[in-house]
Amino acid sequence: MKLDNDLLIKAAIGENVERTPVWLMRQAGRILPEYRAIRNSLSGFKELVETPHLAAEVTIQPVDILDVDAAIIFSDILVVPEAMGLSYQMIEKKGPWFEKTIHTNEDVDSLVIPDVNDQLSYVMEAIRITKKELNGRVPLIGFAGAPWTIFSYMIEGQGSKTFSKAKKMLYTNPELAHNLLKKITLTTIKYLKAQISAGADVVQLFDSWAGILTHQQYIEFGIKYVNEICNAINEVPVTVFSKGAYFARKELGELKCNTIGLDWNMDIKKSRELIGPEKTLQGNLDPCVLYSDFKNIQKQTNEMLCKFGKNRHIANLGHGVYPDITPDKVICFIEAVKTYKN
Ligand code: CP3
Repeated sequence: MKLDNDLLIKAAIGENVERTPVWLMRQAGRILPEYRAIRNSLSGFKELVETPHLAAEVTIQPVDILDVDAAIIFSDILVVPEAMGLSYQMIEKKGPWFEKTIHTNEDVDSLVIPDVNDQLSYVMEAIRITKKELNGRVPLIGFAGAPWTIFSYMIEGQGSKTFSKAKKMLYTNPELAHNLLKKITLTTIKYLKAQISAGADVVQLFDSWAGILTHQQYIEFGIKYVNEICNAINEVPVTVFSKGAYFARKELGELKCNTIGLDWNMDIKKSRELIGPEKTLQGNLDPCVLYSDFKNIQKQTNEMLCKFGKNRHIANLGHGVYPDITPDKVICFIEAVKTYKN
C-alpha cells in the first residue's frame, strides 16, 4: 500500500526530504494516559501484548495524539526468548523476570527455533490490524532485540546493572555463547521476515546492552550476529541501534543496513565521520532534555537538527522516552522538528 507520509522511508534510503521525519523510541505506552487506561483494564502488560486489536490500538495512539511520522508496533523484545522456550513475566515496577535461565549446553539444546507465525502469531496479527487501521498514514516499524541483548536476558533472567553473568559466560564458555547467539540469530531473522510479510515497512534492532561489552567482545559476540541479520533482511530498510557502542561506530558503518541509531553520548559530527556518508543517522537528543522547559527543548532540538543536516537524518531521542515525561513536552520536541527551517 502506498504511504501518504513516507518521510521516514525516504530518509532511511537516502532520498531528499522536505523536512526531517521524527518519532520516539518507546513512544507506544509509558507516557500516554490513553495507554494507561487500556493497560489498567487488563491483567497486565502481557495481556496487552498478546491481544492484537488492543496492541494495534496502543500502537496508533502516538500517531493520533503526538502526530509522529511513524508507528512502532506495540510488543516487547522478550517475546523472542519466550517463543524459544523461556517464558517471562513482567513484574509491576520491577521489570521482566524469567523463571528458567540458560546455564549449560543442554539448556541451549533444549531451546527451539520456533515457527514464528505460530508461536508469535499475535504479533503478526497486531501488525496486520495496525496496517489496516493506519491505512497508509505513516510507516509501521517492526522490531526485535539484537542477539547480544536477548542473550543477556536469557542468561541473567532479569535486568541488571552490570550484566556480569552474561559477560561471565563470554569469558568462561565462549562456545556455549556462540551456540546460543546463533540460535537467537536464526530465530530473529525468521521473526523479522514474518513481521515484514505481515506489513512492517521498516525494522529496527535494539541492542540495548551493547555498551557494556569491550570493543573486541562487541565485534565477536555482538556485531557478528547483527551483521548476519542485516545480510538476511533485504526487503525493507533496517535500523541498528547499539546503545552505548560509541567505540564500534566504524564497524557499525560497515553493516549492510540503512540507518544507525545514535545515543546522546555519540557526538554527531564525529559519528558521521566514523560511520561514513552512506548511512542515515537516527537520534539523538538526551531524553532528559524533555524535563526542561519548552524554550530549552526547542533550542536543544534546533541545535541537534543543525548538526545533523537536512538529509539522511531521522530525529529521535538518544534512547527511549522516560515514563514520567509529560506528553506536552514530547509534542514540543516533535513540533520543534517539524517547524525547523534549514
Ligand atoms: O517503542 C515502543 O513504544 C514499542 C514497544 C516497546 C516496548 N518494549 C513496550 C514495553 C519496545 C520497542 C520495547 C523494547 C524493549 N523492551 C527493549 C529495547 C529498548 C530499550 O529501551 O533499550 C528492552 C531492553 C525491553 C525489555 C523490557 N520491557 C524492560 C526492561 C521493561 C521494564 C521496564 C520498562 O522499560 O518499562 C519492559 C516493559 C515494557 N515494554 C513496557 C512497555 C510499554 C512497560 C510495561 C507496562 O506497561 O507495564
